[in-house]
Amino acid sequence: MPTRVALIGANGHGRWHRRLIASLPDVELVGLADVQPIDPPPDAPAFTDHRELLTATRPEVVVICTPPHTHLPIALDALDAGCDLLLEKPPVTSLAEHETLLDALKSSGRSCQVGFQALGSVAWARFRSLLPGATSLSAVASWKRDDAYYARSPWAGRRMVDGALINPLAHAVMQALASGTAAGAGRPRRLEVERYRVREIEVEDTAFARVTFESGLPLLIAVTLAGEDFIAGEIEARGREGRMLLEYPTDRLALPDSPLTEVPGRTDLLSDLLRHRAEGTPLLVPLESTADFTAVLQTLTEAPEPQFLEARIDGPHRTIPGINALLRRAASTLTLPSEMGVPWATKPYRRRLPTA
Ligand SMILES: NC(=O)c1ccc[n+]([C@@H]2O[C@H](COP(=O)([O-])OP(=O)(O)OC[C@H]3O[C@@H](n4cnc5c(N)ncnc54)[C@H](O)[C@@H]3O)[C@@H](O)[C@H]2O)c1
Repeated sequence: MPTRVALIGANGHGRWHRRLIASLPDVELVGLADVQPIDPPPDAPAFTDHRELLTATRPEVVVICTPPHTHLPIALDALDAGCDLLLEKPPVTSLAEHETLLDALKSSGRSCQVGFQALGSVAWARFRSLLPGATSLSAVASWKRDDAYYARSPWAGRRMVDGALINPLAHAVMQALASGTAAGAGRPRRLEVERYRVREIEVEDTAFARVTFESGLPLLIAVTLAGEDFIAGEIEARGREGRMLLEYPTDRLALPDSPLTEVPGRTDLLSDLLRHRAEGTPLLVPLESTADFTAVLQTLTEAPEPQFLEARIDGPHRTIPGINALLRRAASTLTLPSEMGVPWATKPYRRRLPTA
């Protein structure tokens, strides 16, 4: 019997889930829910209210791909209906929500996989196995997001849900935090962050964040959505053996003294959830494993407004001149712009990270 799967939030990134569901054997798409008209037109019964979908179609697994601030109530309704969840990142918007969802999972006996899909790659498994002994970590990404990106949805650029660190570049943050854990550094304990924006938005599009783990291991995350040359997303680990680099969106890995080479193979998170249901295998990204990410997210949402920076405007794009060199320098020296004497740098926001 195929597994009955439903999708809530069918436009936007939901289209990617629709294609994936259609490609999987032994999966039946039993329904779609979206508060907006669904495009392309639905190929299964469609609903505007997710509760009606749950009652009418009785799915066994629900993929939740709605805006982040709607995740918790929808997830709780789906658990009440007896479903297992594939919940998009960022899973929730606070540690209190994280706890509420964990409690509901325990009492319902259901499972929740979180959509950090790069954690399903063979490249990540190999990188992770070599991390013990690392003495520092960094993450760098340089993307360009245009005017259309910030006009795409009502929640675009809004506080709590769409900062560069917690939404578009959330994978860099999650992968970097998971690297610290895999290195045996314990939990992340301290966050020092400088946040910047080149648009009239409530959140950062450029950020430099230093995380210190329990063991003292430092991690420097330097990312922008107003970049020069594209850097897809890199996690670098340095240690006695030299440096290792994982380009997580493309599954390319450079081991000490070796060039960047693709390591093929990725388990998609829905297939992994189906296997977990059938065989009891551990999930690749259970909700518990995202607690540190949510601690960082919560701390960022409590931080002061990001500093506005003048940028070069080029049609729908904005670019911070010299940003790529600065991202690289921050990552290699583990320092923040204010500590390098960058003239536009703001005072870092420093906090002890809360625990779940
Ligand atoms: N894993 C990834 O790589 C990845 C990539 C992009 C987005 N995402 C995540 O996916 C989620 C959705 O992002 P998006 O960019 O597609 O957003 P979006 O705003 O483009 O699309 C969200 C869809 O959900 C619908 N929706 C909103 N509230 C709803 C509700 N209560 N019930 C049913 N439908 C509802 C909207 O009408 C819209 O069609 C976010 O959590 C985002 O961070 C993950």
